[in-house]
Amino acid sequence: MVLGVGTGSTVAELIEALKDRKIQLSGAVSSSRQTSELLAKARIPELDLNSDGPLDLYIDGADEATADGTLIKGGGAALTREKVIAAASARFVCIIDDSKLVEVLGKFPLPVEVIPMARSYVARELVKLGGQPVWRDGVVTDNGNVILDVHNLRLIDPPAFEAAANQIAGVVTVGLFARRRADVLIVAGEDGVKTLTAPSR
Ligand code: A5P
Repeated sequence: MVLGVGTGSTVAELIEALKDRKIQLSGAVSSSRQTSELLAKARIPELDLNSDGPLDLYIDGADEATADGTLIKGGGAALTREKVIAAASARFVCIIDDSKLVEVLGKFPLPVEVIPMARSYVARELVKLGGQPVWRDGVVTDNGNVILDVHNLRLIDPPAFEAAANQIAGVVTVGLFARRRADVLIVAGEDGVKTLTAPSR
């Protein structure tokens, strides 16, 4: 199988597990340079989404999640490629620990990837949507863009907020995965591991 692979410390553990258990993969589609380096070290061939997609399965972590599989992602600035691969995969499995499971998303500042010349304009528009954007100074994404982390949100209607933020000119990707949620959440806690399956909408 060709696996889509996310970015972050959880995914780093996943790649170790794939390596150790010698699961047969024909290759993986990577969501970041960081993940590409880990795949190369694990000798897992990296494949191209254009020629090898759509994918059966995408596995990634998240920064915050609700039990229905809606996520905030992008703490590692890889949100755009993560969102593309999630969209192009039949099944999205997200692995988190229970400190990231919340009733209402928004305590974790929502990352928004923005083209550099639109940064101030997009920030003003995000204020109109009720957030407090903070430029992640010094960070340039793999796509050459910048990140605004939007604080003070309480995302009661995530699909509506995702749609509204996506409409702002200059926004590349909103790190809110509401329209394409995780299908399965694997949640690790002190009492063991629970698997939550997202209800269909
Ligand atoms: C990367 O941009 C993020 O979306 C990560 O998937 C998310 O930050 C989870 O990372 P950790 O597994 O390191 O917590």
